[in-house]
Amino acid sequence: MNYPYQLTTQAAYEEAYRKSVENPEEFWAGVAENFVWRKKWDKVLEWNFTEPSIKWFIGGKLNITESCLDQWAKKQPDTPALIWEPNNPDDPGRTLTYKELLEKVIEFAVVLKNNGVKKGDRVCIYMPMIPELAIAMLACARIGAIHNIVFGGFSAKSIRDRIEDSKCSVVLTTDGVYRGTKPIDLKSAVDNALIDDTLIRRVIVYKHIDSDITMKEGRDVWWQDEVAKLQGQTLTDPIEEMDAEDMLFILYTSGSTGKPKGVVHTTGGYMVYITYTFVNVFQYKPGDVYFCTADIGWVTGHSYIVYGPLAAGATSLMFEGIPTYPDAGRFWDIVDKYKVNILYTAPTAIRSLMAFGTEPLKGKDLGSLKVIGSVGEPINLEAWQWYYDNVGKKNCPVVDTWWQTENGGILISTLAGVTPSIPTYATKPLPGVQPVLVDGNGKVLEGNNVAGNLCIKFPWPGMLRTTYGDHERCRVNYFATYPGYYFSGDGALRDENGNYRITGRVDDVINVSGHRIGTAEVESAINVQDSVVESAVVGYPHDIKGQALYAYVILDGNISEEDALQKINAAVNKEIGHFARPDKIQFVKGLPKTRSGKIMRRILRKIAEGEMNNLGDTTTLLNPEVVEEIKNHRVN
Ligand code: PRX
Repeated sequence: MNYPYQLTTQAAYEEAYRKSVENPEEFWAGVAENFVWRKKWDKVLEWNFTEPSIKWFIGGKLNITESCLDQWAKKQPDTPALIWEPNNPDDPGRTLTYKELLEKVIEFAVVLKNNGVKKGDRVCIYMPMIPELAIAMLACARIGAIHNIVFGGFSAKSIRDRIEDSKCSVVLTTDGVYRGTKPIDLKSAVDNALIDDTLIRRVIVYKHIDSDITMKEGRDVWWQDEVAKLQGQTLTDPIEEMDAEDMLFILYTSGSTGKPKGVVHTTGGYMVYITYTFVNVFQYKPGDVYFCTADIGWVTGHSYIVYGPLAAGATSLMFEGIPTYPDAGRFWDIVDKYKVNILYTAPTAIRSLMAFGTEPLKGKDLGSLKVIGSVGEPINLEAWQWYYDNVGKKNCPVVDTWWQTENGGILISTLAGVTPSIPTYATKPLPGVQPVLVDGNGKVLEGNNVAGNLCIKFPWPGMLRTTYGDHERCRVNYFATYPGYYFSGDGALRDENGNYRITGRVDDVINVSGHRIGTAEVESAINVQDSVVESAVVGYPHDIKGQALYAYVILDGNISEEDALQKINAAVNKEIGHFARPDKIQFVKGLPKTRSGKIMRRILRKIAEGEMNNLGDTTTLLNPEVVEEIKNHRVN
């Protein structure tokens, strides 16, 4: 089997790109025909970026799991769909074939139904990287419930906020997980999130590490018990027919305000877009073993561990552990053990492994690798080269894939081995993607050799449709800055050959180890502390994390700096999660402000970066004297 829409030559890419711009509807209809639809669409696209309103494959009926599972369970029942590598390398892993995965999904879909979950209900999933997480997502999709996955590193407070915003009625979790040697108690985070909660009727707990947890009578049930109840019964598949524009999932992401946004993706367009991009960017060939190291709690895992690979009938490897346990050779052991052909990881992981040198690679056979990918933040030249030389052995194209939670799938990337890779460049837009660069006033920068704010001027099927419960927020955030365009929040440059290089965020969002963190969210968390008068958080370059957080904090004088430090860290842990903790905290007497009272972050950023002599004009500030004081006490 091959993919009729797979582009295998540069000329085919160029031709597809041209068609996708000249006649997008015909182009995408041609791709969409390769999926399982219960009823074909009446119209391919209706859109405007003013409201915004974006609809793809209007009138089409489907259930995404029929493309992801049923078709392959018939055509290739014994092909591995998911390979699971556990945290502990001595534990046996698990492989689920397409036939087995379909059976498990139907079984758990029945469990969800038996527990009162209906089409349209929102289900919060707070689970580690085990096959049951993928089963849970697909079972939700099977019955038309909308999943809202919360990454396992988020705090109880973050779980609660997401449950409340999306009005979930059920939570799926486990008793815990080991990350390396450290046990993490996921269930108690859920319990803390649900104190005084009135929305959640049911918590279904998968027993994973056999830890000692409390189950709340009447609310909590064990996953395994619910499945056991079905033994001996003939199950009726509770599959629902969905509209192409029905919601598939909500995924919260940080922006420039204190509150995360629930990005909404729908069914038909998302399915078509992520599968098209999966097959083309990675040049997946049937039989390949594909390993994406992301966590399913982030969009990369949604699109490129679960839905995209499965809709392509691929074999997707999911890994529960961390890259440095039991040692820094773990990724390479996995590649060797399963003969991985395609590896997709993040610059922060590459940099952290680089720090161990090439010793952990010795004796590991990486000869199966054909393609190596990167996502989540700009990849610096050094990391790119190390990855290319030592992992790809100068033999594998590197695909630097640029995209965002809101995009659903990859927008700008090399197609592996088909279009040229250029170090640190994402290179060319995928067919169907029409990027533009604009200046600060929204003027489109024509031609090549220009740099500006990266926008997209035409819809693609995988894009977000709204932000949950607040469409205005979606409009203001993405479509109002430069009317007529989707604005990414990233800066980019276009070289003389039309290749794009992403230069990073131009708003108050920082990518820390590939985790997207809004500085306003961290400030709100810090400000929860009574003794904090005001705070400002900015990003600064970090060797491994890419960027790290630097917080400037004004205290009220009733607390020692030592205590404040401890309390602030605890507050960020509690409000968001440990990964959002600032690396540096400086206590200051004042923050530089404009005459209208706005914090001059530009100056704080420069100081955090160590560029003290290049602060620009500070004389127009309301309080120029604080700048000297901040400079003198900068945390190194
Ligand atoms: O700044 C860009 C950066 O990650 C942001 C999106 O983060 P998130 O929604 O969490 O999704 C991450 C995984 C898709 C973008 O606005 N980013 C992502 N990929 C790249 C990148 N920056 C540079 N190069 C990339 N390849």
